[in-house]
Amino acid sequence: MSTNTTDDKKKVTTSRIIAMKARGEKIAMLTAYDYTMAKLIDEAGIDMILVGDSASNVMVGNATTLPMTLDQMIYHAQCVSNGVSRALVVCDMPFGSYQGDSIEALRSAVRIMKESRAEAVKIEGGEEVRESIERILSAGIPVMGHLGLTPQSINKFGTYAVRAKQEAEAQKLIADARMLQEIGCFALVLEKIPADLARRVSEELTIPTIGIGAGGGCDGQVLVMHDMLGLNKGFTPKFLRRYADLGTAVNDAVGHYIDDVKTGDFPNESEQY
Ligand code: KIV
Repeated sequence: MSTNTTDDKKKVTTSRIIAMKARGEKIAMLTAYDYTMAKLIDEAGIDMILVGDSASNVMVGNATTLPMTLDQMIYHAQCVSNGVSRALVVCDMPFGSYQGDSIEALRSAVRIMKESRAEAVKIEGGEEVRESIERILSAGIPVMGHLGLTPQSINKFGTYAVRAKQEAEAQKLIADARMLQEIGCFALVLEKIPADLARRVSEELTIPTIGIGAGGGCDGQVLVMHDMLGLNKGFTPKFLRRYADLGTAVNDAVGHYIDDVKTGDFPNESEQY
């Protein structure tokens, strides 16, 4: 039985997300990449669904998010949008689709909105991508920021370790967070940073912060669905809480099916025409 607290079937919008922070209501977000899972988590009452470029890892099997293309992100976001009636659908802008040129960034964002029916885009980075974010916002496209560990920069960081532990990086993150709010982002993902820093940013901003590995002081939380459902058994970071062991359930069910086929138990009389 679901334990979610909302019976509210009203469509979630960016302004409702901001209002949730204002009244102190925590925001729950998960990733999804396909119709069936998006429909299930939407029916369970999730507030926002992120079509993350983590699809590169959990759907495609790549080591990083960098190979994901704009066409692939649009395809996954179309699949998700088809399954969702309540949650706000946010689509990641993939590596290379917004960094170099703000006009190219706007074109990429417009394609996502037109072709996938996502309702907002998410962009990694601060001051260095400000112009791209401003141009996208000026076209009426809501943008969610993403600071801290930004996986598209893995080749610069060299590691997926906690970010902004040093004062200089923490100060840049705070300045970037203020700037993202000021130019009009509706929310901000904070990934893998010290909990004290995330709390400080969350207390200062009026737009909601959505944490992943950033502690309980954030206004909401996001997890990769495959990780929290236990479908991705090899991934065990400290911040991850597993809510199910679907990996084992799938292995057991498939093993059972194989046995039934091999022994001739499946199909039986009632399962044939
Ligand atoms: O791609 C993704 O799933 C993300 C979340 C981890 C925030 O960006």
